[in-house]
Amino acid sequence: MSPRDLEARQRRHVLYTWTAQSKAAPVDIAGGDGAWFVDHAGERWLDFESQVFNCNAGHGRAAIIEAMQRQAGELACAHPAAVFEAKAALGEALNRITPASIDRFFLCLSGAEANENAFKIARMFTGRSKVIARRRSYHGASMGALSLTGDPRRMPVEPGLWGVLRAEDPYCYRCPFGLDPASCGTRCATHLEHLIEMEGPDTIAAIFFEGVTGANGGFVPPDDYWPTVRAICDRHGILLVSDEVFSGFGRTGHWFAVDRWGVAPDLITMAKGLTSGYAPLGAVGLRADIADFFADRTLQCGLTSYAHPISCAAALATIELYEREGLIDRARALEPVLRASLEVLQTRHPVIGDVRCAGLFGTFELVRDRATREPLVPYRAATTPADVLALKRALAERRVHISLSRQNLFVAPPLCIEADDLLLGLDHIDQALTEVFGGSAP
Ligand SMILES: Cc1ncc(COP(=O)(O)O)c(C=O)c1O
Repeated sequence: MSPRDLEARQRRHVLYTWTAQSKAAPVDIAGGDGAWFVDHAGERWLDFESQVFNCNAGHGRAAIIEAMQRQAGELACAHPAAVFEAKAALGEALNRITPASIDRFFLCLSGAEANENAFKIARMFTGRSKVIARRRSYHGASMGALSLTGDPRRMPVEPGLWGVLRAEDPYCYRCPFGLDPASCGTRCATHLEHLIEMEGPDTIAAIFFEGVTGANGGFVPPDDYWPTVRAICDRHGILLVSDEVFSGFGRTGHWFAVDRWGVAPDLITMAKGLTSGYAPLGAVGLRADIADFFADRTLQCGLTSYAHPISCAAALATIELYEREGLIDRARALEPVLRASLEVLQTRHPVIGDVRCAGLFGTFELVRDRATREPLVPYRAATTPADVLALKRALAERRVHISLSRQNLFVAPPLCIEADDLLLGLDHIDQALTEVFGGSAP
């Protein structure tokens, strides 16, 4: 069956996500190796999106596949309370790699579920009901996680959960307070104090922030941002939840983005890179005393596929692979290479208004006009401008699979990418930008 026939057959009964079905853009992927994948015609694509910021360990990793196969042969289906080796070992591995504040883990199937459960745990532990989340944020598509989400994806299904308060973003290029980063006093963090005092600290259970903002713009906060947020939480007995679903597992050059600033969250949520997308798995990491709170009280959280054996085996093998190949350090080591290229491209292309980078996560923010900073795509645009579609086409013609979300073009390859392949992909971006927007001579 040709890829086209297969797509038509699939489309007849299976829906695409986050799109009008008539406008869905199928991804033709038949297999892969490292930072590359192949389509059904055998063409190689450079994966600059790691599928959906997911495949951090790279494609076709035998160690993960074999661990899953072994687990499927031994025990593929198990009760949520089942006891087996991969589950115990995964707990130990997570304890090894998460911040020292984190001691125990609740296992689920996705990033959204991880945030749902963190939300419930925060409410049960504190006895408070409100939470704070940021405007340009994404925490998952289920109703609670979408209520935490600030971006427009929540709007068609509102009203969401009651009690989600909005904080401003550490978005220095477009400071929500109109301040200059050199003298702003990190208002994006300090304004939380005012919000908390106005709402009543004893009503707020938790703050949910992405370690480094993912799909909403790749904001890497100023160095004093996370420590300031931590101190504010401590002053008011509010739990700090770091959503590391996107920014975890080496994406920003550390196991978790908060490690970059040495900050210890009370709860941490993860998924994606946890298994590198080889099997569905999410987790909430808890401080020991929060877990102990449930020693004699029921933990009102659960799911049929809790700690699914094949997902546990995939996660364990993935973590061991990150460790064995030093992939987290590798992402940190490649950060200067990526950053330098982003900056060079910025000098060559007036359409690039700002660049941001942490580990192997780079962002080009594209603008219509550098002086006014008008974004290439308005925040709540219902349609995609023709030049953005042309840029997507120009990148696809060069066989670069990449995420262009509103005005942000994200560079997020598997962490095993060779430096030459990283530069090759950036060169393709350079060419595609020139083709669509012109650009200036080097
Ligand atoms: C920061 C963040 N949190 C949560 C999620 C939701 O994860 P999932 O799609 O696995 O439910 C995502 C997904 O992109 C994410 O980027």
